[in-house]
Amino acid sequence: MSPETPSVEKDAAAYLKTWAARVEAELDRRVPEEGSEPPEMYRIMRYSLFAGGKRLRPVLFVAGCDAVGGNPEALLPAACALECIHTYSLIHDDLPAMDDDDFRRGKPTSHKVFGDAAAILGGDGLLTLAFRLMGDESMIRAAGAERVLEGVRILADAAGAAGMVGGQLLDIRAGGQVRRSGELEDIHRRKTGAMIRASVVLGGLLGGGDPGQLDALARYGERAGLAFQIVDDVLDVEGDDTTLGKSTGSDEAQEKATYPALHGLEASKEMAKAAVEEALAALSIFPEGAPALASLARFIVLRRF
Ligand code: IPE
Ligand code: IPE
Ligand code: MG
Ligand code: MG
Ligand code: MG
Repeated sequence: MSPETPSVEKDAAAYLKTWAARVEAELDRRVPEEGSEPPEMYRIMRYSLFAGGKRLRPVLFVAGCDAVGGNPEALLPAACALECIHTYSLIHDDLPAMDDDDFRRGKPTSHKVFGDAAAILGGDGLLTLAFRLMGDESMIRAAGAERVLEGVRILADAAGAAGMVGGQLLDIRAGGQVRRSGELEDIHRRKTGAMIRASVVLGGLLGGGDPGQLDALARYGERAGLAFQIVDDVLDVEGDDTTLGKSTGSDEAQEKATYPALHGLEASKEMAKAAVEEALAALSIFPEGAPALASLARFIVLRRF
């Protein structure tokens, strides 16, 4: 990184790097190894899970937990659960029946390597594993059954029909037909924002946060999540394939409903910045300002990957 790199970016990069490595090790420990029965199953799941990825959702979970003074180390199965659901959503998102993309996390997509049916099932395996991880005995010991159950509800709502899955359906159905800003914001909030919001809230909830803190974390996650997908749309236009690990230009080729398509590139960048400012404002209730969450929000608009 160059010496003039803003320090917030450095902070977020260091925090991301440290915790992403910790989550990676935990995932490796908790997802059965490749050769486990039934044949191929865990090879398919692990192929996409360990292909790279920023691990942003697990790290947001850790930062949410930090913000309320919790101990993330004991709660890492939940961080792993978030990454399993996210990775499953990517495998399915790339399928020929959806975005039909060939590269993900710098490697050929799951269906390119294993075929469509196996990729679908690998995704299903990851989704199901997520809820097994959430219910892990160690989670109950660390956070108590009531908070864990509330966490399961939050995760299911975010990942399911009212959240990510529903958003993906809206996205597929919309094609290039979206004309209203509110409609596009709704798609983005569901398909991407819901899991990002849930990541932060879950960290706060399992870390022992009170209702006021959880409310602030939800507002932060909601705005940061929207900003994240706007920037994803922007990077599809002006990002670099190698840095991103996926093919750019795919949205335009498929006439997807995106912020740049509806508002133009510059306005989209301004909208992402404004959403991040709102996310930062939500952190004002934390006496020390939740520095990890603050630098992660800034990373979301500055990122190139
Ligand atoms: C990509 O998510 C898909 C979206 C929800 C926009 P990420 O940009 O977090 O992808 P990875 O996990 O780093 O590969
Ligand atoms: C995907 O949005 C959102 C998901 C739920 C996976 P995109 O389709 O824009 O994500 P990328 O650009 O393929 O990573
Ligand atoms: Mg998509
Ligand atoms: Mg896609
Ligand atoms: Mg995209």
